[in-house]
Amino acid sequence: MTEKATLVRGMRDLMGEELAGIRLVEEAFSETLTSYGYEPIRMPIIEQTALFSRGLGESTDAVSKEMFSFDDSDDPLSLRPEGTASCVRSVIAGNLARGAQPKFWYAGSMFRHERPQLGRYREFFQVGAEAFGLRGPDVDAELIRLVQDVFEKLSLDSAVELEINTLGNAASRQRHRAALVDYLLPHKDRLDADSVRRLDQNPMRILDSKVSTTQEIVEDAPQISAFLDEESLDHFEEFKSLLSRSDIDYKINTRLVRGLDYYTGAVFEWNTESLGAQKQVGGGGRYDGLCELLGGAPCPAAGFSMGIDRLSLLRTNLELESPSFAPDVYVLALGEGEEARALKVASHVRTNSNLRVRSHQGGGKVKARMRSADRSGAKIALIIGAEEAATDHVSLKWLRTSQDQVSVPISELVSTLLSST
Ligand code: HAM
Repeated sequence: MTEKATLVRGMRDLMGEELAGIRLVEEAFSETLTSYGYEPIRMPIIEQTALFSRGLGESTDAVSKEMFSFDDSDDPLSLRPEGTASCVRSVIAGNLARGAQPKFWYAGSMFRHERPQLGRYREFFQVGAEAFGLRGPDVDAELIRLVQDVFEKLSLDSAVELEINTLGNAASRQRHRAALVDYLLPHKDRLDADSVRRLDQNPMRILDSKVSTTQEIVEDAPQISAFLDEESLDHFEEFKSLLSRSDIDYKINTRLVRGLDYYTGAVFEWNTESLGAQKQVGGGGRYDGLCELLGGAPCPAAGFSMGIDRLSLLRTNLELESPSFAPDVYVLALGEGEEARALKVASHVRTNSNLRVRSHQGGGKVKARMRSADRSGAKIALIIGAEEAATDHVSLKWLRTSQDQVSVPISELVSTLLSST
């Protein structure tokens, strides 16, 4: 026998309830982002590897360990691990931030070669928003209010906690970096290999290490809060005040540095305790230097991305339902030669309502046809027989309740279905 085709590790076929949950989250963000005036953007899945190594930072896990990279005629390319760098590239290429403040949102597949487990995949879905040309903190606070609106819409607001921090402006970070390296160098021998590498490239990321020996060392490391200048402090104070005044709860986490190197100023993460090992459902912050770093004119910017898979999984764990893809109505032509009439009736219902109508195909005995109707998950079977056709009626049989079968004239069909589904 020919070998069965198999799925690549870390990839998934999504359908049924799992996909319904993912679509629900995606649609809630799409509606809310549109209502906040964000415009959709679709960016390519494949980019130059250099976009990510320059933009996200060579020493980040996403770039140094997790990229799906390949050469196309000597051109080093990668599947995108995230969307911010592509969005910035696109804004620079189109000169979009010149004299304007574009706001974009996107949703789609991202790829990270991580060890797969529940809530962590090699292809996963993010929805993200990026606002350009605005210094904040009003735009930062609005991004968070927007996410809070979606959490409320999805009944997730009480399951997710917001953590914030500030990484300060360039001058503050410079002073913090020097103090951090002075503190860490004498402990170099006890730091894990990744942290030793980061000592040169981005020592601040060491504060975020998950390795317990390194965590012990950074326990007493100098914190950014001691190095913030007046400008950075004012920005953060105003950000916090805007959050409080818009009824948003948050926790300050002075160790929050994010996993990508482009952040400056305010950073944020949304975490949950209801997802097992994966705590983080989303993150973001300001990245005022990224446009310049990728060859554009200086342009302040801020944004966030949410893990759609994780939010959907969280809804499942909290036993929140997602609408199913099952049809509402299953149409069966039971009388000889009634197929054409069934086609017309089904079409009439679809055109005059937003009901999902599936028609029976493939013939079969009456019993087998009724079994197919039941298996489809539909609530109602719409039966067209010779008798009904003669009087311009159809029969409705409820498949999930014990309600009696009724015969209704075509003129009352849609209203009857709408009042019963
Ligand atoms: P990030 O924190 O790397 O940020 O990813 C955002 C979210 O994507 C995470 O919080 C998580 O929910 C989800 N995620 C990440 N990796 C996986 C995975 N392997 N499987 C499932 N879900 C995953 C960014 O990507 C930045 N671009 C956020 C941003 C936008 N900052 C400014 N603008």
